[in-house]
Amino acid sequence: MTAGDGDFLKSKRQWPSIRYFLSLIDFSLPAFNLKRRTLHRAVTIEDLKRAAKKRVPRVVFDYVEGSAGNEVGISRSLLSYRNVEWKVRGFSDVSEIDTSIYILNERVEMPILFAPTGYTRFMNHVGEPAVASVAENNNLIYTLSTMGTTSPAELARAVPGSRRWFQLYVVQNRQDSLNVINQAKDNGFEALVLTIDTPVTGLRHRDTRNGLTIPPRIRPSTIIAIARKPRWWINLLTTKPLEFAAFRGWDRSLQELASTIFDPSMTWKDLEWLQSVWDGPIIVKGVQNVRDARKLSRMGVAGIVVSNHGGRQLDQGPVPLEILSDIVKEVDGKVDVYIDGAIMSGSDVYSAIALGAKAVFIGRAYLYGIMAGGQRGVEKVVEIMKKELINTMALSGAKTIEDIHELGARIRKS
Ligand SMILES: Cc1cc2nc3c(=O)[nH]c(=O)nc-3n(C[C@H](O)[C@H](O)[C@H](O)COP(=O)(O)O)c2cc1C
Repeated sequence: MTAGDGDFLKSKRQWPSIRYFLSLIDFSLPAFNLKRRTLHRAVTIEDLKRAAKKRVPRVVFDYVEGSAGNEVGISRSLLSYRNVEWKVRGFSDVSEIDTSIYILNERVEMPILFAPTGYTRFMNHVGEPAVASVAENNNLIYTLSTMGTTSPAELARAVPGSRRWFQLYVVQNRQDSLNVINQAKDNGFEALVLTIDTPVTGLRHRDTRNGLTIPPRIRPSTIIAIARKPRWWINLLTTKPLEFAAFRGWDRSLQELASTIFDPSMTWKDLEWLQSVWDGPIIVKGVQNVRDARKLSRMGVAGIVVSNHGGRQLDQGPVPLEILSDIVKEVDGKVDVYIDGAIMSGSDVYSAIALGAKAVFIGRAYLYGIMAGGQRGVEKVVEIMKKELINTMALSGAKTIEDIHELGARIRKS
């Protein structure tokens, strides 16, 4: 007889109790709406990503998921977060956790901002206003892309109470840039986020192979795609046409516009020009080396985003998380340092902050949410990330975001 059998014989037995059995039954009705049930069951961003893949055509999913070249940059970034080891302390009374911080002198609920993503209504017809509503409901900041499918004025009208920043590509013709900047100014955008990692478009092989065009073209193969994801197509065809809304009324095709939006001749002088035409805060996105960070800090920008565009531009440049600490040390508190790329959980947010970031931007994470379930899907992303951030804070002994900075973390070599 084994020790286990002995335990069995020793435990006192009784007749099964019907009342006890009934007390264990879960009488709540399952959600009949498939979308709601999927969102309800999602525990991680990875779950939302799986759900997203089922709901949208492949060309859409790949546009979001894909990166440039061999997609090495994004895999390295994902791995870099796995290699972080957090410092821990005990006896810290973590019964009350405060995740809030101040960004540009105003409080936000969490150190998470919504990154600019062009063409958001392609992922789900509710588009940019839905994401900005979630930002507003959760007291977070939303960044609208120059290549948005909602114009600055439309966004401001749809979600007047949301804190909003505007992401700028300095367009080849400066007068055109000025027009876009004025739209941001006139519609209550608090800061400009100047993206500098796009002198040209990265080579995204998935998009080329899938024949992605803007707007999407209907081909014989599209008929099969429609049959596979009819709901997405119905939403596309029964809502207003996809367009780069900040350029509405311009006499150019979408393809022409896309090819003139990036300016390969951009230099530091263009930043000086921008500082002369915009008197609010400027945050520079796509910083990938310490020297640029130093110069930007001397030029008096309000913030920098250490970013490689989620690996969608230069494939094998530095990994943002691995250069973060050096940049933070170099600028020494003179500018706010943000980071983005591959942030897929609240514990990734924790890692970035422990290594020196003020806050993070999320891109794909919320796009998985919007593809999986529209605005509710984006709400779910915030809920998941907040829960994970609070849990990591409690377990490591950090009551506040400042405590995370104090505790810190290290990147393991293996
Ligand atoms: C589908 C998609 C569209 C994007 N469009 C823009 C854009 O218009 N402007 C910009 O500065 N960055 C854009 N980005 C980059 C994001 O702002 C951000 O840097 C990146 O998504 C962060 O990586 P993550 O997606 O892994 O979180 C886009 C990213 C994705 C996934």
